[in-house]
Amino acid sequence: MASSPIGTCTTASSLTQSISCVGCTELVKSDFNHTVQLKALPVPTAKLKSCIGTLKKLMPSFVKLASIVEGPDAGTKLALMDPKLLDRRQSLLNQAELAHLAEFGVNLGDKLQADQLETRTVAVTYEHYSLSAVLDRLLPPNTQLSSFSVVGHIAHFNLKEEVLPYGQLIGQVVISKLPNIRTVVNKRSQINNEYRNFELELLAGEPNYVTLHKEYGLEFELDFSKVYWNSRLSTEHHRVVEKLRPGDLVFDLCAGVGPFAVPALKLGATVFANDLNPTAHSYLEANLRRNLRKSQLISQPELVKAFNMDAREFVAGVLAPRYAEAVASGFEQQVVAIANLPGMAVDLLDCFVGCVKELLTPEVAKSAPPVRIFAYSFLRHGDTGGSRGEAEAALIGRICDRLAGGVQPCDIRLRFVRDVATNKDMYCAEIRCPASLLAASSCCRPSAVCDGIDDQTASKKPRLA
Ligand SMILES: C[S@@+](CC[C@H](N)C(=O)[O-])C[C@H]1O[C@@H](n2cnc3c(N)ncnc32)[C@H](O)[C@@H]1O
Repeated sequence: MASSPIGTCTTASSLTQSISCVGCTELVKSDFNHTVQLKALPVPTAKLKSCIGTLKKLMPSFVKLASIVEGPDAGTKLALMDPKLLDRRQSLLNQAELAHLAEFGVNLGDKLQADQLETRTVAVTYEHYSLSAVLDRLLPPNTQLSSFSVVGHIAHFNLKEEVLPYGQLIGQVVISKLPNIRTVVNKRSQINNEYRNFELELLAGEPNYVTLHKEYGLEFELDFSKVYWNSRLSTEHHRVVEKLRPGDLVFDLCAGVGPFAVPALKLGATVFANDLNPTAHSYLEANLRRNLRKSQLISQPELVKAFNMDAREFVAGVLAPRYAEAVASGFEQQVVAIANLPGMAVDLLDCFVGCVKELLTPEVAKSAPPVRIFAYSFLRHGDTGGSRGEAEAALIGRICDRLAGGVQPCDIRLRFVRDVATNKDMYCAEIRCPASLLAASSCCRPSAVCDGIDDQTASKKPRLA
């Protein structure tokens, strides 16, 4: 499930003035008990369907009340309206809407006097309030509450400093309002460890981080406290998998618990998936089995294998020999490599250069298929790194550099994936990496340039394992 934004309540109503729990740190549901006085507008039952959209604009929107109730006779219903909104009907409804209502016998034109309508007293409780309406009433005015993500039964916040004192309260509200959520956590620190998981702080509910998450109909079991998972990447996972065909050869260098690998295998690709984190690797294997249980694919070991090693070793020890085997057997489909490790993927691209030089002759490489690499990267721009265009050009330059001049900018397509923070976005670089580069015995640039790059590459080589 994608993240759910929590907005601030913008209703013009003043019906909730009686609630005074702003700034509370304990959830007391009875604080939300109050009554509201609503105006009952008679509407012919037969016309209700066609004017309900317009009437809704004048009904209290901050609570989920039954706003249409039985009228004095079978042919009439009563629409319960917020008197304040009713007073402002001329500005809230356009002429066509007012005319439309009048045409159906619902007279809301100039002549209507709201106080001529019957007043109904309606009891409102915590249960009538939506999640965002509750938080709107509990948190201090102008509080910017970020959206949250849902991973299985876990709701995951990234709370700003000023909201931290209300963290447990927010957690309690989320659990009370969302029946599928049993655990609410806050991300305590920036992700900067090797396995890309983060320290969690329990805000409310069970301290149980092993969960089952569904993405595009597939099930992923994972321990959210020990492995990387980001529900906001579901569209990206899907977008990449849509570019695959049955029979393709797919290498996922940093597979996590399998959000690219599992759907790729399901689609009929041959998949070799790897992750350095042993816990992610265990879940990866389990998720491949779980989703392919009923399929013959999983019992064909040549079609799928999960590894637990450093991405560079994976390219040298798994991708290179399998690629060479495929070429030798006349493979003609796509060969795809996915590297979703945005902080480092571009830096590790140099491990593709010459990775099959001892396995394929340059002559054979001439007719071998390219590797289509999906390498993810962060892109800083604005205050921190020039304009977006400049940052994109610099990223393309870095990719060409890491691939030792064996690809040209025209072999690289950059695609925006999502914004991560102010002036920091995630991008996917789709690179067409020719077989000649994989089989190259050394740098592909003219030697004078090449020497310099080799030195630079060696000094910049990231420590991965
Ligand atoms: C950003 S996550 C992406 C996971 C998954 N592909 C996804 O889209 O959800 C990066 C993954 O790379 C793994 N990783 C980190 N360093 C690695 C390395 N040197 N070699 C292989 N995997 C690595 C982490 O454990 C993590 O699971």
